Amino acid sequence: MKFFVDSADVDEIRELAATGLVDGVTTNPSLVAKTGRDLFVILAEICALVEGPVSAEVTATETDAMVAEGRRLAEVAPNIAVKVPLTWDGLKACRALAQAGIAVNVTLCFSSAQALLAAKAGARFVSPFVGRLDDIGHDGMKVIAEIREIFDNYPDTLTTEILVASVRHPMHVVEAARIGAEVATVPPAILRKLVNHALTDKGHAAFLADWERTGQRIVGAGP
Ligand code: E4P
Repeated sequence: MKFFVDSADVDEIRELAATGLVDGVTTNPSLVAKTGRDLFVILAEICALVEGPVSAEVTATETDAMVAEGRRLAEVAPNIAVKVPLTWDGLKACRALAQAGIAVNVTLCFSSAQALLAAKAGARFVSPFVGRLDDIGHDGMKVIAEIREIFDNYPDTLTTEILVASVRHPMHVVEAARIGAEVATVPPAILRKLVNHALTDKGHAAFLADWERTGQRIVGAGP
């Protein structure tokens, strides 16, 4: 399973990319607005840090304008994936950009029917928002399971990757992996939480204390 970082904060991305665990990045207009920085500067910096896909979202609402924005965003770096919203215009833009050889991430997906359309439109990724579905009392993970089942019925033609988005806690990541989604895009704070376990901390502290009592060292010691 691939991990993308869901952030436009270059410092956060740099720190996480250094772990070697980051396969890509997703941004959106809200995340860019939060930084207060220039979109193109941010994207160039992120694309230099991460080899995998970096999603950058169009903000036009009509197909032709979306395609023009998508083409402009794709000029930033070869690893840009253009995000378009799951609207009729977005799907038409997806088709046009995909035909031009540009990777497209269809975003704001909230149902398996929508995901099916994104796949038919040639999307490289479709982004179902599990957290926002949970927020309104729906079951976000049920939608992921439905999409997985549908795509698996047509492995030769529905090759779009399921990119689980709007991740709010570590169990979203675990459930996404159990279902077989190809990607989870994870906010930095949640990515950091994945490593935590109280028994790991307790066990590690005990091992170090016991080792300290031996008075031994490893580097520079031994036969
Ligand atoms: C990523 O591609 C999405 O834009 C993001 O995961 C949305 O997350 P949110 O629902 O927490 O804003």
